[in-house]
Amino acid sequence: MQADNAQSYGSISRFFHWLMAAGFAFMLFTALSWLLADDAEWTKGLMYYHKSVGFLLAVLVVLRLLWALANLKRRPPADSMAALFGHIALYVLMVAVPFIGLIRQYGGARGALEVFGATVMQGSPEKIDWMVQLGGNWHSTLAWVLFALAAGHIAMVAVHRLKGEDVLPRMLGR
Ligand code: HEM
Ligand code: HEM
Repeated sequence: MQADNAQSYGSISRFFHWLMAAGFAFMLFTALSWLLADDAEWTKGLMYYHKSVGFLLAVLVVLRLLWALANLKRRPPADSMAALFGHIALYVLMVAVPFIGLIRQYGGARGALEVFGATVMQGSPEKIDWMVQLGGNWHSTLAWVLFALAAGHIAMVAVHRLKGEDVLPRMLGR
């Protein structure tokens, strides 16, 4: 186990980054499936996995945020103000999207939330309107903003690499 240093992110930061990137890729897959093949039989069971993986991402982002704050002075300095604000915006959205989903789950009085077979949260006994509205208005909108920002983030990593200012080794631990 390794903390961050000025040249590269340590193993714990890299673990959070790549595991969560895989989690978000799965969330994008579920969202695109509903968008493009909503009528297909195989998309109907995806909500259970969407909520399960979404809950795990909510737990992971809290741990990742605490770890990032503890390593703030050690990790590689941001390449530019745009990169710094881009990373901050990613964190804000990575926290907001799943927690808004969880708030709506609770306020929707939909019963207990099951995550891969384990009950992790009870539902409210009665509907709580502001929670349902918060989810209805913001969960999916902010999630699409998050996916767009993540796509921009990946594109910028590629641009830096093409310009000979590669930052990828920082996140590969080289
Ligand atoms: C970071 C994690 C998450 C991401 C990126 C995400 C993303 C999304 C997206 C993009 C949609 C809209 C799909 C469409 O346009 O048809 C959606 C819908 C939905 N999500 Fe999530 N979600 C996450 C976590 C959660 C969690 C934790 C829950 C609840 C426990 C949840 C519950 C729902 C529900 C019920 C819908 C369908 C209703 C709606 O479209 O607003 N999501 N999610
Ligand atoms: C193929 C996919 C991805 C690649 C190649 C990639 C690459 C990188 C690299 C090279 C860095 C270090 C940048 C620097 O120090 O200037 C970084 C940092 C970061 N990336 Fe990604 N990334 C990917 C996907 C994602 C996704 C999907 C998210 C979030 C939704 C994300 C969120 C972040 C954040 C928040 C940081 C700041 C460091 C941290 O706290 O983890 N990345 N990424």
